[in-house]
Amino acid sequence: MTDKNRSQWDLGRFIETLTYFEVIPFLNWVQELIQGRPKDNQNRPDGGRNMGVILVAGATGGVGKRVVRRSLERGYKVRAIVRDIDRARSIIGNDVDLVVADITKPETLNSIVMADVQAVICCTAVRVQPVEGDTADRAKYYQGVKFYQPEIVGDTPENVEYQGVKNLVKAATKYLPQASEKLIFDFTNPSIELKNIWGAVDDVVMGGVSASNMQFVENTALFAGNVSTANSGGFASVRTKNFDPPFNLSDYEGVKLRVRGDGQRYKIFLRTETQWDGVGYGYSFDTVANTWIDIHVPFADLIPVFRAKTVKDAPPIDSSKVCSFQLMLSKFEYDNALNPKFSPGSFSLQVESIKAYGGATLPQFVLVSSAGVTRPGRPGINLDEEPPAVKLNDQLGGILTWKLKGEDSLRESGIPYTIIRPCALTEEAGGKELIFEQGDNIRGKISREDVAEICMQVLKLANACNVTFEVKEGEKTVNSIDWQRLFSNLQRDK
Ligand SMILES: NC(=O)c1ccc[n+]([C@@H]2O[C@H](COP(=O)([O-])OP(=O)(O)OC[C@H]3O[C@@H](n4cnc5c(N)ncnc54)[C@H](OP(=O)(O)O)[C@@H]3O)[C@@H](O)[C@H]2O)c1
Repeated sequence: MTDKNRSQWDLGRFIETLTYFEVIPFLNWVQELIQGRPKDNQNRPDGGRNMGVILVAGATGGVGKRVVRRSLERGYKVRAIVRDIDRARSIIGNDVDLVVADITKPETLNSIVMADVQAVICCTAVRVQPVEGDTADRAKYYQGVKFYQPEIVGDTPENVEYQGVKNLVKAATKYLPQASEKLIFDFTNPSIELKNIWGAVDDVVMGGVSASNMQFVENTALFAGNVSTANSGGFASVRTKNFDPPFNLSDYEGVKLRVRGDGQRYKIFLRTETQWDGVGYGYSFDTVANTWIDIHVPFADLIPVFRAKTVKDAPPIDSSKVCSFQLMLSKFEYDNALNPKFSPGSFSLQVESIKAYGGATLPQFVLVSSAGVTRPGRPGINLDEEPPAVKLNDQLGGILTWKLKGEDSLRESGIPYTIIRPCALTEEAGGKELIFEQGDNIRGKISREDVAEICMQVLKLANACNVTFEVKEGEKTVNSIDWQRLFSNLQRDK
């Protein structure tokens, strides 16, 4: 082993690097010849897609299956809590991650069910059916307006509407991420896709002999290798392929890394241009040897850099189109200044996650409850005018009373939430104007389609946070709804 050997520049690695990032098509082209043409975009990960998972409880039910469908249509990853997986597959198909769990059994609501969950939509309900029985497709129950003498079958309202909801809220409290953050890379449970996104870009691209890579060990991404200053080199890095479409992080203040390093100073670069050799927006951060720390990288503090030189006239980063990320250890800071916390040789930086931080707080737990939950036992209530569930609350095991207690557990949890209390649910097509109220006094009906749509809308509405409201449909069919306006008329819960 001689210095001569060590400093021998490696053309093969140089070509590999440029090929991985599609700068030159050489190896990709050979691969295509052997394996056939890859599907469009196979090589370009999608930054536009919502990275977090939406967890739907009650996904096989009338509202739940529509929430699943709408979530998939919007590009969310969906996980469904189901009790019978074959039945669930026949109702909601295969594009959903089906997990067998039961909200009345808290031990089933574990880290596998909750992994990567960004928001929970709960549409569960105790089973109610006509005393005379229902058809296999539950047509009598689903019509919602015609009256059949109802009864509870199976589990009790106390177990499902209260304990079950409370169990789900508790699991959410434990596992949901900060509401103001968006997960970009979660290395605790990396998919194959995620592992293929990162590739090495070492000083071999300019004649050096440093070598590094990204490995996935101990539920982290490990950026490690050897930096050599031979051949005027002195940096190692790992970079993502370009995301297409890019990440829109304009609602956030910056990105946050959870890292454990070796005491050296590293850099992160974000890019908004897809070309290989363009301006990168850089930020240096110091690590503490063997200690996990959070690094906040405010977009406002990113420095535009081109080949390690700062670009004085470059605009600030456009965080609405971040197309790649890069982590680097370099002998240099910027403009030929030396990195004061650098030593050549082996290095290691473990990364647990990269998130966007500083966003608005949005609802993370949507509970589909029911109009009428506060009416049983309310002084002055005229039961003859009330819907069956209010009139028959006692015969139905206190269904509404327990629903209210389930709501309370969510209101008290500290999770940003929205509680939707629909009037009688129908299987109609929906698309009607919506009437929102508070105080629990309205009567009427609403399509399950529209309730599912409300569930989807509130996930993006800061002013739907910590709000409980009733909803029914009006007469008019409408083409579009001003959701901001509807929610801006509502009061937040105390
Ligand atoms: N019907 C109405 O007119 C009306 C009016 C106002 C409000 N609501 C409320 O609106 C919500 C949605 O109603 P919907 O008609 O869509 O409900 P649904 O069709 O009866 O669906 C209930 C769902 O809950 C699931 N579930 C029940 N117990 C569970 C448990 N222990 N663990 C996990 N999942 C469980 C069921 O799963 P399985 O498939 O495994 O049984 C099913 O997917 C409910 O909260 C309901 O009370 C209804």
